[in-house]
Amino acid sequence: MNYLDSLAKLGIGGAHPGGLKLTKKILVKESIDRTTSLLDIGCGTGQTAAFIAEHFPCAVTAMDIHPLMVEKAIQRFNTCNVPITVFQENVEHMRLKEQFDIVLSESVLAFTNLSKSLSSIMEALQPHGRLLAVEIMIDASMSEVDRNVIASFYGFRELLTEAEWREKLIQAGFKQIDLEQPVIDPLKVEIDEAQDFHFSESQIDEAIEILHQHQELTEIYQEALQYCVFRCLR
Ligand SMILES: C[S@@+](CC[C@H](N)C(=O)[O-])C[C@H]1O[C@@H](n2cnc3c(N)ncnc32)[C@H](O)[C@@H]1O
Repeated sequence: MNYLDSLAKLGIGGAHPGGLKLTKKILVKESIDRTTSLLDIGCGTGQTAAFIAEHFPCAVTAMDIHPLMVEKAIQRFNTCNVPITVFQENVEHMRLKEQFDIVLSESVLAFTNLSKSLSSIMEALQPHGRLLAVEIMIDASMSEVDRNVIASFYGFRELLTEAEWREKLIQAGFKQIDLEQPVIDPLKVEIDEAQDFHFSESQIDEAIEILHQHQELTEIYQEALQYCVFRCLR
């Protein structure tokens, strides 16, 4: 079982830095109305997509590569009775017919081949559409050994500095790239941003053990790991 499998087994909602509290802060700055279409890539168990469908008048589509995440997202959308179209897809080569005004990515891109994902996202965006992404970033001084420890535990394909992120986004063709670094204490979970859990019936002990390892790593690397919010215009 890898890190993402453990998140799926535990059915964790809000599995991104800053949780739903940060998501709300990001969305409130966007103009979102009845004509807006939004795609949540790597939606996990669908906490953010359900929140958007409940609080904004826009059309919401969600996708994730992991079958158990998709299954749990569908359960959530049915329970909340929200009209969200869900796909099981790889963001690196999405085969969606529609184009969207907003693509939202919360702690997803680092797990993928970034060149492929960003080019696929560009195709999924309307002209003048925007990518909103909450991602992990590292300090340029981080050693190769530490980079490898983190990348191999989480299964990150890309672990980038701010300059490297900007370069990849520019290469993909994004025109305006704004970056904010929210102050996040990844060890502190506030009531308002509390994660929710929808446990599977099997392998829960193994999944919890992986989550503990994640907490230990977060503590060890709390100075070196940074979090950023990108807003990029197509
Ligand atoms: C850390 S979780 C975040 C989930 C969700 N965005 C959230 O904030 O709760 C990362 C998610 O990205 C999904 N993912 C990873 N690689 C992907 C890919 N190539 N295509 C689509 N989804 C992917 C995983 O299955 C997982 O659900």
